Amino acid sequence: MSLFTGTNLIDLEDCESTNNYARQLLREKQPFEGTVVRTFRQRFGRGQRGKYWESADFCNLTFSLIYYPVFLSAERQFSLSKAVSLGVADFVKTIIENEKVSIKWPNDIYVNYRKIAGILIENTVSGNQISSSVIGIGLNVNQTQFSPEIPNPVSLKMLKEIDFELETSFRQLCDALEMRYLQLKWGNKKIIDEDYHSSLFGLNERGEFIVEGKNISAEIIGVNEEGKLKLRLDDKIEEYDMNHIVCKI
Ligand code: BTN
Repeated sequence: MSLFTGTNLIDLEDCESTNNYARQLLREKQPFEGTVVRTFRQRFGRGQRGKYWESADFCNLTFSLIYYPVFLSAERQFSLSKAVSLGVADFVKTIIENEKVSIKWPNDIYVNYRKIAGILIENTVSGNQISSSVIGIGLNVNQTQFSPEIPNPVSLKMLKEIDFELETSFRQLCDALEMRYLQLKWGNKKIIDEDYHSSLFGLNERGEFIVEGKNISAEIIGVNEEGKLKLRLDDKIEEYDMNHIVCKI
């Protein structure tokens, strides 16, 4: 049972984007840490790089969680992204035991070669500290058909061939997220770093990427402290942030 994650739950019949709603809420007041804004009917779910997050009505989990990771400096914000990705991956692993669950940099959750969940974290920084964070999570649960433009989607139902009870899955996911968040808060950074590294999709393998419009092939060797992807290209190592590289798979 989580102690505070999802305890204050704001359920919306529908909304544009739970991240937008949660950000507005933060501007107006300071909701309790762990407050969740959830809907089963999100109209304009936002993804990373300005993309749209598709979720069929009443099929999946789409929610935004508010944390106050004031113990993190701005330079360490990627460690929150690691903790959250691990929380989602931990939950997926409890259900999908016989397949490979991994984190595709920076924070997409994959089962084998297919994406099951996406995360959009929006932090507010004041001074050099993170003052609040809106953590948007979309997890494909019972949806079995996706628009053709969504690359390699998968859901729990597609993998297990059973329907999932959304409320139960939500509570289990909150528990898993809180466990990783507390690990981070209590300073167990090493465990977070090691688990993230070993969960990294394509680690030590060659992958295809686009950098400044050019196709490159390189080996993924890890992620640095700032959250940049580290690649080995022939004889040199390069680090890229999200704005400078696109992974082709
Ligand atoms: C991605 O994979 O690009 C991130 C997707 C994040 C989607 C979730 S759904 C709940 C929350 N509200 C949003 O508008 N986006 C996030």
